[in-house]
Amino acid sequence: MTSLPHPSRQAAFSQRRNSLRGHIFAPGDKSISHRALILASLAAGESRINGLLESGDVLATLEAIRKLGATVRADGTAEYRVTGTSGQFSHPATDLDFGNSGTGARLMMGAVAGAGANARFIGDASLSSRPMARITDPLSRMGARCETGTGRLPVVLTAASLIGIDETPLIASAQVKSAILLAGLGAQGETIVRENRLTRDHTETMLKLFGAEIRVIASSPGRVVHLPGPQTLTACDIVVPGDPSSAAFASVAALIIPDSDITLRNVMTNPARFGLYAVLKRMGADLLVTPTGHAAGEAIADIRVQSGALEAIDLEPDIAATMIDEYPVLAVACAFANGTSRLRGLAELRAKESDRLAATCALLSANGVSVRIDEDDLIIEGGKVPGGGHVATHEDHRIAMSALVMGLASNEAVTIDDINMIATSYPGFIADMTALGAVIEVGA
Ligand code: S3P
Repeated sequence: MTSLPHPSRQAAFSQRRNSLRGHIFAPGDKSISHRALILASLAAGESRINGLLESGDVLATLEAIRKLGATVRADGTAEYRVTGTSGQFSHPATDLDFGNSGTGARLMMGAVAGAGANARFIGDASLSSRPMARITDPLSRMGARCETGTGRLPVVLTAASLIGIDETPLIASAQVKSAILLAGLGAQGETIVRENRLTRDHTETMLKLFGAEIRVIASSPGRVVHLPGPQTLTACDIVVPGDPSSAAFASVAALIIPDSDITLRNVMTNPARFGLYAVLKRMGADLLVTPTGHAAGEAIADIRVQSGALEAIDLEPDIAATMIDEYPVLAVACAFANGTSRLRGLAELRAKESDRLAATCALLSANGVSVRIDEDDLIIEGGKVPGGGHVATHEDHRIAMSALVMGLASNEAVTIDDINMIATSYPGFIADMTALGAVIEVGA
């Protein structure tokens, strides 16, 4: 079986009309939704997941765990019930198709390697162009049998016995760390991951909720995770918190559209995900973060955002892992800020759903912003944004949403070549933005 054909493209445009007002609930977090399904599929017993993000990426992971032997029931309410496999996946009859989702493909490679199934991983054109050796190399060192002709999809895993490893990943990537830890659940002996730069720690937090024995030790300059294996997880009930990466779009829109005043409810504030909001505050943004509790072991808050002048920023590279998905929309904020911004150390953006560094630069440039790439840095001259551009999204949902946010505040409308990819991470984007007063026309 080959990957599903690309759904037909549909153009759209956004234009300046109203200020944004009111409140929305942030959609379920994508990273947490993937992990809830994956850990539930490995656990013994039935897990109940509420608030799962029903996006293309997450539904691809859901389909994959079904093929691997987990039972998933959805009763039409927001609740999914997953009966796990006690760490023993069955061999899927057909390819595991992860569509556009790097997180799904990469985390599931770790889970499949640890749970001993033979499986072929495929994805769409964007995912098939992204590097997979960063996952298959450490898995191979654990004893996994991985075939990948080009270091990209398709990847074939064949069941093999694994042993724990002591690994220091060269890139700051939660996907790499998570794949190694998930494989470690099925390995003999201890798996150790040493992180020099902190990345999102949802896998570690959720493994504890599913009863795993795992130790996380702070070490300068990062953190060391110890996971003894083999071990079997125990089912757990999860309520998925709201996604700060999705909330970022309405947040930036409210900052740059005059007279806006919105509240985003139920947003996860894990510091490893909250870099954008800290940066926007440094730029002078009027943000009020009111903690409201916890979900899935993660802190959540309501965030009130009011429009106002932003100042340019010179942003250090060390913060990148805490806001890696937010650079396109931060670049939009910088385009409206006073002065020249420099966003440093963005090499990893080249390995996202598109070459996001180039795509972000092109997005701004097409709309009359003076912008350039200097090695791994993005330099943006802020001020008034003419707009009027036609933006190529390169099958990248975050480029699409960032461009539409720009069009809500620029002089002329901004058009994108495809709105459909947005459903990979934020199917309710248009509805939420419209509820706040934005004008986005689909099918232009
Ligand atoms: C994710 C990790 C990040 C991020 C992706 C989700 C995760 O990727 O870009 O959208 O859920 O672990 P990297 O780990 O490759 O930086």
